[in-house]
Amino acid sequence: MLNPRLVAIGGIALVLGSAARYFLNRAADLPVSIPPPEFKRRNAPFIATPNVVAEKMVELADLQKNDVVYDLGCGDGRIVITAAARSGCHGVGIDIDPARVAEAGENARLHGVEQRVQIIEQDMFTVDPSKADVVMTYLLPWMMNKLVPQFERMKPGARIVAHEFWIDEVDPDEVVDLARGEDGSITSIYVYRTPLRFNPAREKGKPPRPRAAPRPPNIAAPAAQTYSP
Ligand SMILES: C[S@@+](CC[C@H](N)C(=O)[O-])C[C@H]1O[C@@H](n2cnc3c(N)ncnc32)[C@H](O)[C@@H]1O
Repeated sequence: MLNPRLVAIGGIALVLGSAARYFLNRAADLPVSIPPPEFKRRNAPFIATPNVVAEKMVELADLQKNDVVYDLGCGDGRIVITAAARSGCHGVGIDIDPARVAEAGENARLHGVEQRVQIIEQDMFTVDPSKADVVMTYLLPWMMNKLVPQFERMKPGARIVAHEFWIDEVDPDEVVDLARGEDGSITSIYVYRTPLRFNPAREKGKPPRPRAAPRPPNIAAPAAQTYSP
């Protein structure tokens, strides 16, 4: 007869093993650096947007050569660098962590876009985005909501392109789901156009619509799926 204690221990080991595998897969896909202690409580850590997602964000931003794109919390600068390289636009990357600022500046040089990409060390909550045509984000949910008064200062027709996390009280204009890597996980990109479409009735903490289901690992990624809420 099966020993219930052994069955329980086996079940826990299975769950912990799957969780470890999931996070190891994500870690292989995403360069993660632990922020210095002074940033830990207040701010999002550096987790880079996978390149495939950064490319899609740039495509959805519909950038023109004269546009200015900001990345609030730019990390290693990959989104503004991709934007400048693909469309010839100007990019401004803002990060509170001096190590990220140095890294992003160096990456801009390595990719030959340093004339069009400026990297600034600043707290994003003090940034005035009124000159930006596009703001890119990959931040924590509370940060997205706290940024709303700043987003409201953006000019009419400007875009906010948000990886993974949405704004609670605003309806997005477009939602795109796509595979972020080979581990089967799906991520969402939310596109908002200004003036923002406020919808206070929406339940806080819930995505604007259900996420697409993850696909089994190692199955060819489906084409990105677009929804117009
Ligand atoms: C999740 S990472 C995203 C990096 C990059 N945007 C990307 O998608 O690859 C968040 C970044 O925001 C930065 N950050 C966190 N709080 C910040 C703040 N208050 N002001 C400016 N940058 C901040 C972190 O240092 C980190 O580099």
